[in-house]
Amino acid sequence: MNYIDLKNLFFKYRNSVEDILKNINFTANKGEITAIIGESGSGKSTLLRILAGLEIPQAGELKVNNKIFIDDENFIPVEKRGIGMVFQDYALFPHLSVEKNVLFGLNKLEKKSAEKRTHEVLDLVSMKEFIKRYPHELSGGQQQRIALARALAPNPEIILLDEPFSNLDANLQGKIRNELKAILKTSGETAIFVSHDKDDLEIADRVVILDRGEVIQTGTPAEIFRNPKNEYVRHILGI
Ligand SMILES: Nc1ncnc2c1ncn2[C@@H]1O[C@H](COP(=O)(O)OP(=O)(O)O)[C@@H](O)[C@H]1O
Ligand SMILES: [Mg+2]
Repeated sequence: MNYIDLKNLFFKYRNSVEDILKNINFTANKGEITAIIGESGSGKSTLLRILAGLEIPQAGELKVNNKIFIDDENFIPVEKRGIGMVFQDYALFPHLSVEKNVLFGLNKLEKKSAEKRTHEVLDLVSMKEFIKRYPHELSGGQQQRIALARALAPNPEIILLDEPFSNLDANLQGKIRNELKAILKTSGETAIFVSHDKDDLEIADRVVILDRGEVIQTGTPAEIFRNPKNEYVRHILGI
């Protein structure tokens, strides 16, 4: 069964002339990591924001775990989707400590349980010693781990990450990539991340290739490398 099922999605911004996303279809299984890869401007962030419930598409159907999130009659808002999001700039609150940043999303729990869960996810991302620090006292990689911990804390059904490695030093990227994969697999998360960098495919179970708002090819990384559909896919893969 497809855990995430997106069908015939069309989207344009109010001021855009053409459709930004054109007839997007893809599925993802539970516990898998899906990479959405494409050139800058191909619509990756827009697609992620629609999955999160931050933008409303003109047409299309989105089901998660057989629940309808979007169709002609229904639109489940962001706060009811059980989705965690890690933004490109991490979007940590600068005036809050690491602990308070993670606690922020746990306002539905009572204080004791919220604190317990905060310590648990900070342990998961190996950042427990940094609990009293502030974001500006942390490196890019450490900030990213806090953003991830904050997104994982409420046990979301899905976690969405926008260009999770693009703000990190090149020599850190490989290490953080493998760490992220280990954390997602340990917590059994279903994850979708977007990227423009072929190196990020390393940690993906499945890949969706986007070109100017259209899905060009989907498959496992191995399938796509073995049989790239066109010149654009080859270009994205650097082959
Ligand atoms: N808020 C917005 N209003 C109008 N157009 C937008 C807005 N955000 C993005 N776009 C346009 O939508 C297209 C896709 O953008 P985006 O989803 O950010 O692509 P990517 O993340 O792949 O770089 C681009 O042409 C961009 O200029
Ligand atoms: Mg983007």
